[in-house]
Amino acid sequence: MGLKEKSKDLKTRMKTALKGGGEKAIEKQKAIGKLTARERIIALLDPKSFHEYDLFVEHAAKDFDMNKKYLPGDGVLTGTGMLSGHPVCIYAQDFTVAGGSLGWMHAKKITKIMDHALKLKVPLIGINDSGGARIQEGVNSLAGYGEIFFRNTLASGVIPQISVILGPCAGGAVYSPALTDFVFVVEKITKMFITGPEVIKTVLGEEISMEELGGARVHCETTGNAHFYAESEEECFGQIKQLASFIPWNNKKKAKPFPKKSPKTRHFKVDGIMPSDPKLPYDVRDLIRALGDDSEFFEIQELFAKNIVIGFSRMNGETVGIVANQPLVMAGVLDVDSSDKAARFVRYCDSFNIPLVTLVDLPGYLPGVDQEHAGVIRHGAKLLYAYSEATVPKITLITRKAYGGGYIAMCSHHLRADFVFAWPTAEIAVMGPEGAANIIFRKEIASAADPDQERKQKVKDYKTKFANPYVAAAYGYIDAVIEPNETRKMLIHALEISEEKDISMPKKKHGIPPF
Ligand code: HXC
Repeated sequence: MGLKEKSKDLKTRMKTALKGGGEKAIEKQKAIGKLTARERIIALLDPKSFHEYDLFVEHAAKDFDMNKKYLPGDGVLTGTGMLSGHPVCIYAQDFTVAGGSLGWMHAKKITKIMDHALKLKVPLIGINDSGGARIQEGVNSLAGYGEIFFRNTLASGVIPQISVILGPCAGGAVYSPALTDFVFVVEKITKMFITGPEVIKTVLGEEISMEELGGARVHCETTGNAHFYAESEEECFGQIKQLASFIPWNNKKKAKPFPKKSPKTRHFKVDGIMPSDPKLPYDVRDLIRALGDDSEFFEIQELFAKNIVIGFSRMNGETVGIVANQPLVMAGVLDVDSSDKAARFVRYCDSFNIPLVTLVDLPGYLPGVDQEHAGVIRHGAKLLYAYSEATVPKITLITRKAYGGGYIAMCSHHLRADFVFAWPTAEIAVMGPEGAANIIFRKEIASAADPDQERKQKVKDYKTKFANPYVAAAYGYIDAVIEPNETRKMLIHALEISEEKDISMPKKKHGIPPF
């Protein structure tokens, strides 16, 4: 065969492989609002930038008549391309081919592109749409998962790892996304669980739909397994591009700077956000927007543990990670879920050279039997651990309450914040005035002629003494008490001056965080 014939042969082979699972299977996929694996990659990446590899890989299974089956690309596409002008490695499981199930060669294609990503230090994007371990391949499919999990762990904190769940993600398949940094889900399309409704019914007699068990909302609101919720695949791809604009490409780089822009003060004025009554809530996201360039804020895990807000903003063109108590939800208290959420984000920012800005207004850790028994001690400790270990620039602003353990945990000087600022409205104390007065003046209040009057007086005395930023400032725990309208200027200066921050931790193999 000459070159012409060989080229024709290549085209024929490619045409067959590119058909995936065939028209009928593709139609089924489309009927439920799903794109095909190839369409997804093309929709996500920059136009004409996708280069596919291993198209001709075939499965090597023999049992259950598998030797008679041709599975194009073995049910997964892998390749490289550009996302908003930056190189990425990507894979997308093809549900039209054997339900995107993971056999040995399918896993080998994924691990090969993972190895590339780690070696070339570029982000890895995995689009998951699979019935899980390929049952006919037995232990080899389990081995394949193990190889993927191992690489997810090696890559953690080195390159960004993004998981997109666009279909079933069942059984062992769930643990790769769980090991990655960001999980994107889509309404009515995502179905993510370890054991499905059938198994649950058989073993426990409980009936539940796939959507209720592991749909997009469940993972965003209840389990906290997912970070971004979208109504459609198109919206989801837009979110991924937005995320990519804030993060660096690997742990040796900084996020790409953007043109410097002032906040949109017309909508978000710093001094108009905080109510004058300290008991009234406010939406901390308004404050975040008032401080960030162009009032932009890209929130992460918006629907989970809403008492804490995390996400990316920019100050003077540079990405910053924001962690903020949300007074609007449970007064911004720290609990099991919000500690988990914030601690993980702090570690992400620290791994990828993103400075942290922490906004503090909270009554402390949430009391209660439920929280104690759910392990608030262990989960709460994660936040202490993550902030203490973080070596990126850490800037803290106390706007109102900073009580008890909450004061320490929200990146106080004691956990090595580089700068701690406070507004004149800040109250830094072991606990709120009412609770404190009732405990320390219990005897005086009880023996007074008018206990109610005495209590009021003691609360007032306590407020005068402690419910302000000046006691902490007198010890140097607050670096500056600032006017609210000075905040952005102070934060930007603190970030600029911390740019070359370089500290190291004691030499060790690794610590033992309260997982
Ligand atoms: C082999 C599979 C498969 C699997 C689906 N298929 N899952 N083949 N192994 N795990 C095949 C089907 O046989 C079918 O092939 C095609 O994919 C499409 O599947 P359907 O069932 O027709 O599609 P649908 O009705 O949309 O249902 C999708 C599904 C269902 C909900 C995902 O297929 C399902 O429940 N699959 C099994 C899910 C599961 O329990 N996985 C866990 C595996 S154990 P044909 O040829 O008919 O088109 C596991 C443990 C690993 O993962 C642990 C590692 C740590």
